[in-house]
Amino acid sequence: MCGVFGYVGNRKQDLSGFLLAGLSKLEYRGYDSAGIAVLQNGKARIFKEVGELKNLKRALNGRKFEGEVGIGHTRWATHGQVTKKNAHPHTDCTGKIIVVHNGIIENFEKLKARLIKSGHKFKSETDTEVFAHLVEEFLTKKTTFPEAVRRAFRGLEGLNAVVVMSNDQIVAFRRGSPLIAGNGKYGNFISSDIPALAEITDKIILLNEGEGVVLSKDAVIRIRPDGTMGRAKTTTIKMKEVTADKGGFSHFLIKEIFEQPEVLMRVASNEEDEIKEAASLIKNAWGTYFTACGTAAYAGLAATYMFSEIAGRHVNFAVGSEFPYLEDFLVPKSLLIAASQSGETMDTLEAVRAAKRHKSKILALVNVPGSSLERLADYVIHLRAGPERAVLSTKSYIAKLAFFTLFAYTIAGKYKKGVELIRKTSKKMAKLFNDGLESDIKKLAKRLVNSEHVYIIGRGVNYATALEGALKIKEASYIHAEGFAGGELKHGVIALIEKGTPCITVVANDKARESILSNAMELKSRGGYIIGISPTKESVFDYWIKVPDAKVASPIVSVVPMQLLAYHLTLLKGFNPDRPRNLAKSVTVK
Ligand code: F6R
Repeated sequence: MCGVFGYVGNRKQDLSGFLLAGLSKLEYRGYDSAGIAVLQNGKARIFKEVGELKNLKRALNGRKFEGEVGIGHTRWATHGQVTKKNAHPHTDCTGKIIVVHNGIIENFEKLKARLIKSGHKFKSETDTEVFAHLVEEFLTKKTTFPEAVRRAFRGLEGLNAVVVMSNDQIVAFRRGSPLIAGNGKYGNFISSDIPALAEITDKIILLNEGEGVVLSKDAVIRIRPDGTMGRAKTTTIKMKEVTADKGGFSHFLIKEIFEQPEVLMRVASNEEDEIKEAASLIKNAWGTYFTACGTAAYAGLAATYMFSEIAGRHVNFAVGSEFPYLEDFLVPKSLLIAASQSGETMDTLEAVRAAKRHKSKILALVNVPGSSLERLADYVIHLRAGPERAVLSTKSYIAKLAFFTLFAYTIAGKYKKGVELIRKTSKKMAKLFNDGLESDIKKLAKRLVNSEHVYIIGRGVNYATALEGALKIKEASYIHAEGFAGGELKHGVIALIEKGTPCITVVANDKARESILSNAMELKSRGGYIIGISPTKESVFDYWIKVPDAKVASPIVSVVPMQLLAYHLTLLKGFNPDRPRNLAKSVTVK
């Protein structure tokens, strides 16, 4: 993962502050450590600290460093422990070639051994440092700095984005990992994503696979993989909606949970033509496949049930990292639907690339405009969830579920009915918040905070809700939570239930209702403490969380209590809900 950021321009009074501000937008990509390098009169000053960006700010203690060239990095550790020594930027033996990097250099051990043999001295355990020394090797009297970086980059295996600073230039290359350049009034920029440049410029330079750029004060030059160069053309990408703050909430997570009714309204008012085009693609495909990762994958799993029930249509589903092992089924008339909040999740992108090898069509559902997924896809639907800053996905999950519901209704020839359902669900969710759901959840969180395990069961489409609810709880509060299909209990899971074990049961007013209530009963008779998320109060519940009856849109409302529960458990445990350990918002490594 990791976030990279860089600037070349007219001398900035507070370049260090400017780099830190850029990195603050990229911190969602990793917060194991942060670092910046500022070039002053040809000499680099490097500052790095372990932990969140605020630690680096604290270490700088208000000091401002001016300069014309600078780079910065937020790290999600892959190679080497989370230490100051391993924090980026990294340098070569001379200290003049300074590198920040996102990705994994898969052949780094081989390269490192070769470089050590020819006398290079290494200071860190990272794969990144190898690249600095590699550029040093290629930088001879006859080779320019950009050419040396290009040659070094050509020797890397894996999916990488590198940003290298030396003298008054920045040279950056990408393959597989995201990287964009920007051209603004005050200079030129490089960044892992477009939103980090939202307040600086809307003139964006998109880089193709294997391409690079040279950033100097006056120009951005594109370097093609074969080494030929040309002035880089900019694309205007308006990012009005891209910036975000906490809007009075204590954390992004809770703000984004409460934004969900609004997101549903935005989805319901999406262009009818776009929905109809997506539905006809699915209808006419010789096989439709869904792929996504994590929370987005659970939306895909839910979609398989929705398409079956609402549209009478079979769709296949596999998580992104598994999809390439199933690619043999694809033909040019297959359709792959890839859903991703960031549009940068490597496993999802790899699944898309696999489908493209078979010339299948790609429909992307993506939240971040201009992302890699959007650029790979043949058709794009924007999720319209607005910026999602919390590491935990909430509102983009809801948006995906809503779009899948609309697609299914449209395939069934009931587009208007689908829109009406999403509108009504939005109102019901807003009422759920107004009726004091959060205070019920706070009470429940107090009861559960010392639990070692929480089990969640659902059936049918709410099997996906159970999985998603468990993911929310475990990733933020670190309480072990597992979601199961209610029917699977008796095949093994029930052995885990002891007296007082919290068991959340997701009940909807659908054909799975009776069976899931029987499963709750089975848990209760083994001592389970039954928490029911349901429109109706049932005798088996020890604790009832009332949710509205949203009909086939039940997964959209049933997940909300578990999102809130995850938030409040995390607060009670004293952790930061926006910064769960070991995670990053965008997973750009395999
Ligand atoms: C969980 C979470 C992750 C993401 C997953 C895919 O709360 O956020 O599981 O859903 O990493 O991310 P996107 O949707 O950006 O592809």
